Amino acid sequence: MSAPPVPLDPIRGVAEAMLRRFEAPTIDPYRTDPVGWVRDKLGEHLWSKQAEIAQSLVTNRYTAVQSCHDAGKSFTASRLTAWWLDVHPPGEAFVVTTAPTAAQVSAILWREIGKAHKKGRLFGRITGGTVPEWKLADGEIVAYGRKPADYDQAAFQGIHARYVLVIVDEACGIPRSLFDAVDALATNEAARVLAIGNPDDPASHFSEICRPGSGWNIIRIDGLATPNMTAEAVAGHRALADLFEREGLEPSSEPIPEGLGRCCCRRCGSRNASPGGV
Ligand SMILES: Nc1ncnc2c1ncn2[C@@H]1O[C@H](COP(=O)(O)OP(=O)(O)O)[C@@H](O)[C@H]1O
Ligand SMILES: [Mg+2]
Repeated sequence: MSAPPVPLDPIRGVAEAMLRRFEAPTIDPYRTDPVGWVRDKLGEHLWSKQAEIAQSLVTNRYTAVQSCHDAGKSFTASRLTAWWLDVHPPGEAFVVTTAPTAAQVSAILWREIGKAHKKGRLFGRITGGTVPEWKLADGEIVAYGRKPADYDQAAFQGIHARYVLVIVDEACGIPRSLFDAVDALATNEAARVLAIGNPDDPASHFSEICRPGSGWNIIRIDGLATPNMTAEAVAGHRALADLFEREGLEPSSEPIPEGLGRCCCRRCGSRNASPGGV
């Protein structure tokens, strides 16, 4: 008696699955379009400087952002954390965030990361607390936030992901030793480092990397250029209006992203009264 014919379909299925394994993986089109990712996945708008920061991560290994408070730096960093993890294959990307204090790590940056995660219904889950983490469904950690004191000498030695993003928030308060540890982690060509802060302390290492020739792509946000500086807002504050006139500045005509905080402008001295900042 002859053997029954082997059904063709299962064999074809296995062959196709094997072929797929060897095919070049498709690259997520949003990998080079973080602004589009934020727009399409989260329904949010990055204003021009935020978009410049986002795009800088596509092409530059090191990006330093120097600006006033409330310009949306931490917001941008949180959206870039979510984008980075979403556009790379699961488990191949890792994000480390740090800031001088636990409160800055968890209450500011990770609060925003949590909001982005929820809004975009993104994969995995986020655990809160002073050492927040983003985990895949199987418990693998793909991102965490730590303040510098939580790092030991071997700060980043356990991280072996191919695509690493390090975010240093409030970078003015971060010691040089931690920047050195970050450098050791970012030797891989695919790694990215984003340091953001307010340039308050000229003696800080952050001030050094914000100088021309440091090798970092430096982005400066002048508080007078934020979208909060509409003609109406500027005219509403005498000192601000005078400052704009003196410096020959035009008010902003950019749409104000919903939720962008109002901040003070130290240059005109109308603290707490005017939008924008320096
Ligand atoms: N593009 C945006 N869309 C909506 N809200 C924003 C945007 N950028 C910033 N914000 C909001 O503005 C406030 C200040 O932003 P934040 O990132 O904390 O500023 P910074 O880090 O520069 O001090 C926060 O409440 C943040 O959620
Ligand atoms: Mg901030």
